[in-house]
Amino acid sequence: MKAVGLYRYLPIDNPESLLDLELDTPVATGRDLLVEVKAISVNPVDTKRRSPKGPATDLVEKTAKILGWDAAGVVTATGPDCKLFKPGDAVYYAGSVIRQGANCQFHLVDERIVGRKPANLSFAEAAALPLTTLTAWELMFDRMAISKAGAQAGRTVLILGGAGGVGSIAIQLAKKLARLKVIASASRPESIAWCKGLGADQTVDHSKPLEIPEVDFVLCFSATDFYWNQLPRLVKPQGKIGLIVRTVKAVDLAILHDKSIAVCLEGMFTRSTFQAPDMAAQHALLDEAAGLIEAGVLKTTLTQNLGKIDAANLRRAHEMLEQGHVIGKLVLEGW
Ligand SMILES: NC(=O)c1ccc[n+]([C@@H]2O[C@H](COP(=O)([O-])OP(=O)(O)OC[C@H]3O[C@@H](n4cnc5c(N)ncnc54)[C@H](OP(=O)(O)O)[C@@H]3O)[C@@H](O)[C@H]2O)c1
Repeated sequence: MKAVGLYRYLPIDNPESLLDLELDTPVATGRDLLVEVKAISVNPVDTKRRSPKGPATDLVEKTAKILGWDAAGVVTATGPDCKLFKPGDAVYYAGSVIRQGANCQFHLVDERIVGRKPANLSFAEAAALPLTTLTAWELMFDRMAISKAGAQAGRTVLILGGAGGVGSIAIQLAKKLARLKVIASASRPESIAWCKGLGADQTVDHSKPLEIPEVDFVLCFSATDFYWNQLPRLVKPQGKIGLIVRTVKAVDLAILHDKSIAVCLEGMFTRSTFQAPDMAAQHALLDEAAGLIEAGVLKTTLTQNLGKIDAANLRRAHEMLEQGHVIGKLVLEGW
C-alpha cells in the first residue's frame, strides 16, 4: 500500500522530512478495523511529531513513522472481536497517537474510537472534523462541565484562537449546543469573518492586549505559557479555564486563587493512550456529532483541499500549519 512517512525528524523544507513509501498492508486483529483511507486532515500534532528533536536530530527510525490523526474512509475488514462496524461502513476518526497514523492507504484503528461518517458529508468534509471535534467537545462538555443542553445559556465564553481547527468547531458547539455568548479571538480580516460566519457574537484581536469584560469561561487554543498571566484578569470569580496546549515553563497556580478559578486540561489522546475504561465514549461522541451534522446543527470546518495524499502535498500542509494562521481545516484526498 501507499503511505507517507518519515525515518528522520527534519525541517519541513527538507524534501526528506516526509517521504512517499510503499508498505505492507496490515491485518486487523482484536477490536481493530482495517480502514481504506479516502481523505485525511492535518493537525499541529503532526508538525510537532515530525519536527527536529533537538540533540536527537540524528535519530533514524528503523521502521517508517507514519503520522496523521484525522481520517475518513471505508471499513474493509474487521478483527474477530469487533461489534460496532462491518466491512463497507463509512467511518471518520482521529485514531491513537501511540500507534501509526492514518497517512496510509489501509489503516488499523480500534473501533471504540471510531464514528460513522456523517452521511451528508464527502470523505474530505468528514476528515476535517474528528480530532478537533473530540478535543473541543471533551474539553467543554466532559472536563469543564459546560451544559451541552444549554443550561448555562447566555453566559460568556472567550475562545482564544477562534479561527483555527479547534476554535472553528468550538465556536459552533458553544453557540449551537451550549447557547453561550461567544467572543472569539482572531487577528486578520479573513479569520474575523470566518469566526463570525460560524456564529461568534463578537471578535477580539489577539495580536493586541485583550480588553474585554470578564467572561465565565475561557477556552485557550493557543500557547498556554503566553496567555497564563493574563487569564485571571479575563475570567469572572468562580469561572473556568480550559487548556489544550502543554505548558513549556512552570506556571504559578496562586494567581487563580483569589477568584477560585478552575483549570481543566484536555488531551484528546488520553482515552486511547491509557485504554481508559470509557474509551468507547469517543465512538459515542463522534456518532452524536455525525447526527448533529446530518441535522444541520453543525457543519464541516474544511476550508482547503490540497489535493491527493502524497509527500509533496503533505509537506505543503505542514508548512502552512507551522506558519500558525490556517483558517479551519486543511484536507488531502485520494492516492
Ligand atoms: N490537547 C489536545 O488534545 C489538543 C488537540 C488539538 C490541538 N491541540 C493544540 O492546540 C493548538 C491549536 O490547534 P489548532 O488545530 O486549532 O491549530 P491551528 O488550526 O493551526 O490554529 C490556527 C489559528 O491560530 C490562531 N492564532 C495564531 N496566533 C494566535 C495567538 N497568539 N493567540 C490566539 N490564536 C492565535 C490563528 O488566527 P489568526 O490567523 O487570526 O491570527 C489561526 O486561525 C495547537 O497547539 C495544537 O497542538 C491540542
